[in-house]
Amino acid sequence: MGAEMTDSLVIRVPAKINLHLEVVGRRPDGFHELRTLFQSVDLYDTLRGWPANEGRLDLGIEPGNLVSDGADNLVLRAARALWREIGRRPGARLKLEKRIPVGGGMGGGSADAAGALILLDRLWSLDLPSSDIRRLAADLGSDVPFFLHGGLALGVGRGEEVIPLGDLPPLGVLLVVPPVEVSTPEVFERLLPGAWKRMDDRVYAGVVNSPPAIDWSAVGNDLERVVCEGWPEVAEALEGVRRSGPLFSTVSGSGATVFGVFESIEAAARAAVGVEGPDRVEVVEMIGRTRARPEAVLEVENRRECGNY
Ligand code: C5P
Repeated sequence: MGAEMTDSLVIRVPAKINLHLEVVGRRPDGFHELRTLFQSVDLYDTLRGWPANEGRLDLGIEPGNLVSDGADNLVLRAARALWREIGRRPGARLKLEKRIPVGGGMGGGSADAAGALILLDRLWSLDLPSSDIRRLAADLGSDVPFFLHGGLALGVGRGEEVIPLGDLPPLGVLLVVPPVEVSTPEVFERLLPGAWKRMDDRVYAGVVNSPPAIDWSAVGNDLERVVCEGWPEVAEALEGVRRSGPLFSTVSGSGATVFGVFESIEAAARAAVGVEGPDRVEVVEMIGRTRARPEAVLEVENRRECGNY
């Protein structure tokens, strides 16, 4: 273990909500053409990495059993994507602390993948051009490139083409996470072409201003209806959030998380008191790009923790 008791790098990647998600059409590759507004909130997954012997990749996840730590895990897939890119196999021991809901439409797995690309690029002193990192991110998942930026951003294409926008004020967000995992492919499969007719240009006119403005009466999520019809727990949670009087509420991404936007974090906290039932409830704040952009920082580790998972 001795050689691995060394300083680690740590990166914190914040979750996102989709303030708006419009399905514009179906593409020949089976994906859907989107226009979406991503917004970071201060709920983070944390990834730590230590150098390890060539060819070795270990991943520990806390809490355990929450997500797979096998080859399909997006952190390990990101690491292998870097291996293929550079034609070498530097090693790493990784530890992931998960706070972002799993299967919740808040981009947890995508955030971890983006964090892994940034952290390992530094841990292995690769210094890859940012265009290469963006390409690898887009290959790992449609949402992954957003997490390289954070803040407020417009996503187009599959969602992987990201146009960063100015910061919104730190509005409060009430998150309600029903105890169900919603399958994103299933939601898109159930979506009938008639459902994508939003096309309200007031949304896009406001967000490019400085500072950006959101017309809360114009934004929405084309997936909301399908998700609420297929997963009644989500519909119930959304009903609960709506009753608490938010400026705006919908599902995030393809669910299962529903959220309400409030003038302040205090207003969101007051609304949280009235939410009943078995759902996980979090009160968070929208964060701007400076706070949201993930950066791998050196952490001087004297703890023996790195050997303990
Ligand atoms: O890109 P990602 O792996 O996150 O997408 C998961 C699934 O969601 C895709 O396989 C596809 O079924 C669906 N999807 C879609 N259109 C998008 C993004 C995702 O149909 N723009």
